[in-house]
Amino acid sequence: MNKKKLYLVTGSSSGIGLALCRNLAKNSSNFVIGLARTNSLKADNFQFHAIDLSDSKAVLAFRFPILDEYQSISLINNAGMLGEINTLDKIDVNALETIIQVNYTSAMLLATLFIQKTQHLNIQKTIINISSGAATGAYASWANYCASKAALEMLSKCIEVEQKQMEFPIRCFSIAPGVVDTKMQEHIRNSSLENFAMKPKFEELHEKNQLYSPVKVAEKLIQVLENPSQYSESIFRIQVDG
Ligand SMILES: NC(=O)c1ccc[n+]([C@@H]2O[C@H](COP(=O)([O-])OP(=O)(O)OC[C@H]3O[C@@H](n4cnc5c(N)ncnc54)[C@H](OP(=O)(O)O)[C@@H]3O)[C@@H](O)[C@H]2O)c1
Repeated sequence: MNKKKLYLVTGSSSGIGLALCRNLAKNSSNFVIGLARTNSLKADNFQFHAIDLSDSKAVLAFRFPILDEYQSISLINNAGMLGEINTLDKIDVNALETIIQVNYTSAMLLATLFIQKTQHLNIQKTIINISSGAATGAYASWANYCASKAALEMLSKCIEVEQKQMEFPIRCFSIAPGVVDTKMQEHIRNSSLENFAMKPKFEELHEKNQLYSPVKVAEKLIQVLENPSQYSESIFRIQVDG
């Protein structure tokens, strides 16, 4: 019997993560594990694992399946949150840590566990960390989100450098998905102009139908997951045509 391809996807309940899990689960040679707090997806080769990624203890307790049963293994650290959109002089300081935990700490812990559990396996192994233009561009009222994405992008770069020295290397990508039509964009459009001066720009993108569809973004991510060796660059932004 042919071995399956395993995909672990965080943030599987909504937006990009849901589109990715739906698409991957259509292929019976894949097995997909989705991690989030909620779930609506049902498929024979999809398994949901309920987890609050802001809880590091829960992340460290995550039990990976038996990994040597698969022909390839991929981790997609996609879960993310913007949190309160506000400048630091006014923001609720008590809510800031959660953003770092969800966007960076959980991804860093899962990537490290993934590396430790798969380093010895001579199969295709891939990590995609979902980045953002905010990893390199400073946006007022998104300070903590920008910082969390910058940290995640640097982690990705360090993993790539480390893995080049390994006998059975893991590829690690940091991929910015563009501006995508998800709940995160709704959250941005629901912010107040007083607290977020760039709100009109995001409203305009929405009004002009210029947001990427999560389905198209998922297709692009799957192209990378299926053929990682065809991508020499590890850090890039998705371009969706048409
Ligand atoms: N949309 C964009 O324009 C855009 C642009 C650049 C980058 N991104 C990045 O793309 C990724 C996906 O975002 P999206 O746009 O698809 O947003 P979304 O529709 O809001 O989905 C966010 C996902 O993260 C999960 N999540 C949030 N907090 C969590 C927690 N504490 N524990 C477990 N899971 C949690 C949510 O699941 P539950 O609520 O069920 O837990 C949900 O599945 C994020 O990393 C985001 O930063 C998005």
